Amino acid sequence: MKIAKKGLPAHVAVIMDGNGRWARQRGLPRTVGHRQGMKRVKELVEAAAQAGIKVLTLFAFSTENWSRPKREISMLMNSLGAYLDRNLGELKKNDIRFRVIGRLEQLPGFLREKIENAQEKTKSNAGMVLVLAFNYGARQEITDAARDCARLVQTGSLSPEDIDEKKFRTHLYAADLPDVDLLIRTSGELRISNFLLWQLSYAELYFPKKYWPDFGSRDLSLALKEFQRRKRRFGGIDVDEKSD
Ligand code: FPP
Repeated sequence: MKIAKKGLPAHVAVIMDGNGRWARQRGLPRTVGHRQGMKRVKELVEAAAQAGIKVLTLFAFSTENWSRPKREISMLMNSLGAYLDRNLGELKKNDIRFRVIGRLEQLPGFLREKIENAQEKTKSNAGMVLVLAFNYGARQEITDAARDCARLVQTGSLSPEDIDEKKFRTHLYAADLPDVDLLIRTSGELRISNFLLWQLSYAELYFPKKYWPDFGSRDLSLALKEFQRRKRRFGGIDVDEKSD
């Protein structure tokens, strides 16, 4: 499906929900749903880059996901490792820069090494930025930023009066990336679930019913087209109403 470049969202964020239900519907273990979901990650990354999206952030593991069964947790950890092993070459070829946001220090050493290697090998790429939110929680991100600021105040290099939105934002995990323009959450759930709370302030929200393993590049195109039809006011009024 051809998408006009005009009015595309610069930053698209996705909560890839419904892997478990997709598998249950077919009488399969949840891990099969995640495996199928991973195939969609590959397809959607390519489709987003081709459409001209600048930043694509995917929520792959939340700080709350540690409460899942051990087997599922280790499967998700291994999935990220396997994704990087299989796709690093493709990311490099397509000029995609890979980044991860989240509390990386709590991840197993083998995974941290793979993440650091992929970030390093793609750091000069100038095309789309692919951000994976892994062991990520938005409240934790904001708390970490507040702690950073408090430390600077304690050492005297920052005064409390100088902490405004702009300054605070520089302490978020990926401070250089723009706010989210379009949030997609698959599976019909209407929740934000502790994802990018700061960056989503003025995002357009889109909640398709399909489970993530069924969400293909055509569905992404439909979401982008819907975004292009929306009118964003950022708390102001429409430009054509200003003469009233
Ligand atoms: C939510 O579905 C999905 C996740 C918690 C994991 C998302 C992971 C992938 C798509 C595969 C891993 C990909 C990479 C690149 C690491 P759910 O399990 O909560 O589904 P349910 O709500 O139907 O149970």
